[in-house]
Amino acid sequence: MKSRNSLTEKVETILASLPAERRHLVLFLHRVQQELGYIPGEALRMAADYFAVSPAEVYGLVTFYSAFRLKPGCRHEITVCQGTACHVRGAPELAAELSRLLGVRPGQENPEKGVSLRTVNCLGCCALAPVVVVDGEYKGRVQKEQVPKILEKLTVKT
Ligand code: FES
Repeated sequence: MKSRNSLTEKVETILASLPAERRHLVLFLHRVQQELGYIPGEALRMAADYFAVSPAEVYGLVTFYSAFRLKPGCRHEITVCQGTACHVRGAPELAAELSRLLGVRPGQENPEKGVSLRTVNCLGCCALAPVVVVDGEYKGRVQKEQVPKILEKLTVKT
């Protein structure tokens, strides 16, 4: 019961921290995931209440966008966009380099290194292609040569 209350408080704090003019469902869910590493069921229920939509609609949204996760995962999560714009600007090479350095294939986790690697089909910011998301932070126009430095900042051993 205590952890549920604490989780509720965290989610309420996240909601309150959003500027009123930017309070919308997707941004809220994005912030929850950024802060907690995933979107707990409690946050889905609270989002439905606050934004006056059905829990099924919130759930549908979260499961539609593969960038959202409903379960806690690794300490660090790296997502490489493989949509068309990113693909033609070098995303496959980025994914291959991340895969090589982390010792995981896209869609896998390396619990020893505390990192997971995923790919998605467009993050909605194609002008920044190729895009990599590291722990919720979007990085645009990423070059393969930058990958070791990105991992270094995460203190992920390669
Ligand atoms: S294709 Fe990568 S952000 Fe759209």
